[in-house]
Amino acid sequence: MIQVAPSLLSADFARLGEAVTMVNTSRASMIHIDVMDGMFVPNITIGFPVIKAISTIAEKPLDVHMMVMDPGRYVGLVRDAGAAIMNVHWEACTHLDRVIHTIKDAGMRAAVTLNPATPVMMLQDIIRELDMVLLMSVNPGFGGQSFITNTLRKVRQLRALIAESGSEAVIEIDGGVNLSTAPALIEAGADILVAGSYVFGASDPHKAIADLIDLA
Ligand code: DX5
Ligand code: ZN
Repeated sequence: MIQVAPSLLSADFARLGEAVTMVNTSRASMIHIDVMDGMFVPNITIGFPVIKAISTIAEKPLDVHMMVMDPGRYVGLVRDAGAAIMNVHWEACTHLDRVIHTIKDAGMRAAVTLNPATPVMMLQDIIRELDMVLLMSVNPGFGGQSFITNTLRKVRQLRALIAESGSEAVIEIDGGVNLSTAPALIEAGADILVAGSYVFGASDPHKAIADLIDLA
């Protein structure tokens, strides 16, 4: 069964609490939160005090996607803010093995994110340590972009790498997910779909989430 993680980036930030309540009462599995530093990506978004506030009302695990340089600096702050999963970009870590173990030692699930141009093969020596791999299906930094179709090939390659390595990592996809792009992702082997503008731009976000889940 496919899982859905609504991305708060596309929520109305003046009504963030209502957006979290909507996810709480939906069939979504987790809440995806995008942290950006204005260096790794051009944009700056949500920081730790806001994540902490969200965690006080969230009834689903927080999936924190760190689009920041050298994210290993923030493991303690991400954990203290209430994250269940910490996603770090492969492109932003010099010592990825150390960062992954620091995240797990802090009691969170560890995930690595790959940009669209980063090959799946770069994970072959770390895949057994990972709880999740997040494949970006847009260039990170902004919601509402178009899905990059080469992601489907990467999902199949990652599914094969996970199978041959004996890893238990699940596959999450982020960017341009909607009812048109999701079926091929599910067929290719995705486990979790992040959806921002599709969910929060819908007239009925609960139904938008349910429609994605019911595709599978
Ligand atoms: C983009 C973020 C995504 C974003 C996805 O850099 O990582 O989580 O919210 O937005 P949509 O679903 O609108 O492409
Ligand atoms: Zn994201």
